[in-house]
Amino acid sequence: MRRSVVLEKEQEALSPRSTEEVAALRAKHILPLPGPMYTRPVQIVRGRLQYLYDEKGKKYLDGFAGVATVSIGHCHPHWLKKIQEQMREYFHAPALYLHPSLGLYAQRLLKLAQTANPELDMCFFTNSGSEANELAALIAKNFTGSQEFVALRHSYHGRTLMTMALTGQSNWRQSTPYGQSVSFAEANYVYRGYRWKECLDDLQQTIRCATPGRIAAFYAEPINGVGGVITPEPEYFPGAYEIVKKAGGLFIADEVQTGVYRTGNDFLGIQKWGVRPDVVTMAKGLANGYPIGCVLTTREIAQAMNGKLHYNTFGGGPVQMAAAGAVFDVMEKENLPKNAHEVGTYLIAKLKKLAEKDPHVGEVRGMGLMIGVELVKDKKNKEPAPELALKVLDSTKDRGLLIGKGGLSGNVLRIKPPLCITKKDADFLVEVLEESLRA
Ligand SMILES: Cc1ncc(COP(=O)(O)O)c(C=O)c1O
Repeated sequence: MRRSVVLEKEQEALSPRSTEEVAALRAKHILPLPGPMYTRPVQIVRGRLQYLYDEKGKKYLDGFAGVATVSIGHCHPHWLKKIQEQMREYFHAPALYLHPSLGLYAQRLLKLAQTANPELDMCFFTNSGSEANELAALIAKNFTGSQEFVALRHSYHGRTLMTMALTGQSNWRQSTPYGQSVSFAEANYVYRGYRWKECLDDLQQTIRCATPGRIAAFYAEPINGVGGVITPEPEYFPGAYEIVKKAGGLFIADEVQTGVYRTGNDFLGIQKWGVRPDVVTMAKGLANGYPIGCVLTTREIAQAMNGKLHYNTFGGGPVQMAAAGAVFDVMEKENLPKNAHEVGTYLIAKLKKLAEKDPHVGEVRGMGLMIGVELVKDKKNKEPAPELALKVLDSTKDRGLLIGKGGLSGNVLRIKPPLCITKKDADFLVEVLEESLRA
């Protein structure tokens, strides 16, 4: 075939197609993805900061940020510039050779993380949150000599075998021998009646009854994400930390969603609870959608990996570092941590007002721009309303707003926009949500 014909064919393959065609082709060739997000799917072909556009040019406010990932905004010009500059210079640099960007970015990242624990001084880059959690488990096993892990019910830690084993939700687990010892403690889910005191007792009992008493680590999301933005009481994590330490375990904060200022003002979500994590795992918002993951730990714990080679083909590459560095540049220049706090506080207050008058909004919870709205059939018996959640999602989409949903029953609306949204966007979001709930 002539080259021009080949190019024409390639062009044709990329030209706009109907949503039905796109959906059919994906269903034909791709393993099942989470869903259905919508009764009629949406096709997005363009993103600019907090806005998305479908193939017909319709504009949407992005209230989900590619699952809490787009932190500074879609295709932010500074971020694009930094990536492009690095791509033109040198793209794939395996860790076998030195490149200045790796150490420089690590230094910058660790300095920010040290606001949570001044001893966090070493890190390792991966391409995803799952890989980061996987490596954190390996470090914990090497450091403690134990193979026992404790995680929380309703948690989500990834899709590798180890991280699936750590995930406390039936819909995200599969009938497969994970080959890992993970026990689950009750999550401090106040709306469903699980208060911090009983949850701490349960953690203690879980360690006493389901493990040999000594553990490698306790994994926790400072504010649970996929499981429905379950936000603990301030007493829970400090108490959990004490229990974990007594059992010889490491406290691993999974900051894949809560990190990079998502909860407003603080770099890490765990800072909201005043606990000093031994290990932190990050991903998503770190590079605004460019694939990245990272494990951060103390020098002492990191020594457990001495003499044990660890490698990741793409992790820590110069383009990844450029993308991640640009995120910090923009965060600083545009004061996004403060914006996440201010707009988030404003948005949560407005949503709480909406909850007072709407018969189906059981609870609004979260911090900063990590927000959950739990829908119930009626407020007295709190029966989850997953069908309503699906309808609301469809309706908000038709009205130009994209949000997510989660929770064990699929009845929690998840609002996690890019950190650059404005109060005007927040007004629009609440207005659309109110109309959709009414509809
Ligand atoms: C808290 C948390 N941990 C880990 C992961 C896994 O990250 P990834 O999808 O990048 O592997 C996710 C993904 O949603 C997450 O929310």
